[in-house]
Amino acid sequence: MGSLTGRRILYTGAAGGLGHQTTLELLEAGAEICALDHDLHKIEQLLADTPADRRSQLHLVEVDLADRLALETTLAKLVADAPLDAVINNAAVYPARPFEEFSNADHDHVHAVNVAAALACTKAALPGMRAQGWGRIINITSITLTGGWENLAPYVQSKGALLGLTRAWAREFGKWGITVNAIAPGAFPTDAEKIHPDPEGYNAMVLDRQSIKRRGHAGDIAASIKFFLSDEAGFITGHSLAVNGGWTMH
Ligand SMILES: NC(=O)c1ccc[n+]([C@@H]2O[C@H](COP(=O)([O-])OP(=O)(O)OC[C@H]3O[C@@H](n4cnc5c(N)ncnc54)[C@H](O)[C@@H]3O)[C@@H](O)[C@H]2O)c1
Repeated sequence: MGSLTGRRILYTGAAGGLGHQTTLELLEAGAEICALDHDLHKIEQLLADTPADRRSQLHLVEVDLADRLALETTLAKLVADAPLDAVINNAAVYPARPFEEFSNADHDHVHAVNVAAALACTKAALPGMRAQGWGRIINITSITLTGGWENLAPYVQSKGALLGLTRAWAREFGKWGITVNAIAPGAFPTDAEKIHPDPEGYNAMVLDRQSIKRRGHAGDIAASIKFFLSDEAGFITGHSLAVNGGWTMH
């Protein structure tokens, strides 16, 4: 696959478990990354792990994606500096409890981070992509959308919204050379997994369900992201790619 040299990519939640490794790989492939995250500790870790000769390609912005005004101010500045070639809508929160225990405010917060921020990021990047007749949008969804998971109603709802947007945007933006695809990770051992009370039992259950008998790692997600960003994937749009070791199959 071709290099990503010169590609300017907006990446939300880039300092997280899957984002950290993927960001390092995208930097290595020559991309410039505008990384938005609100976790200062993780941001500092990402900066520390970035090789010195790649640091000029990394623009780290500490911002709360649920703070609409702060996000829009950040995005306006980023696109004023230079157009964006790609957006990876990756940041997510995943509170877990029975449906009846979620307040309206809980639902609103999940929607703000997991969906509304993706709307804002995509809207900000679109004019530049249209002007150059090339663009890539990748929405990170989840196996929970196809597997039927309990206690995750707002999260699963938000991933359903992202899948719907993937298809609607793919249809609407294709005429401008912009592809829009979704990646649905299976179970990866990141912070997202710490919501499970019995780690060993959970690990055994995951391996039992998967066809591939090893745990997924961030490099598996990075590879699929690099594929959708490539010129070679330019005829694929509106697709949802399951990266789950052959757990759910559709
Ligand atoms: N890890 C898994 O097993 C798994 C499974 C299915 C789907 N996914 C999806 O993959 C994506 C990445 O997940 P991950 O495992 O890296 O999770 P993670 O929690 O490690 O990373 C999410 C990142 O988003 C950031 N974030 C959260 N709220 C934010 C806010 N308000 N403002 C700014 N940044 C915010 C966090 O700081 C974090 O760095 C998510 O969309 C998640 O739903 C992960």
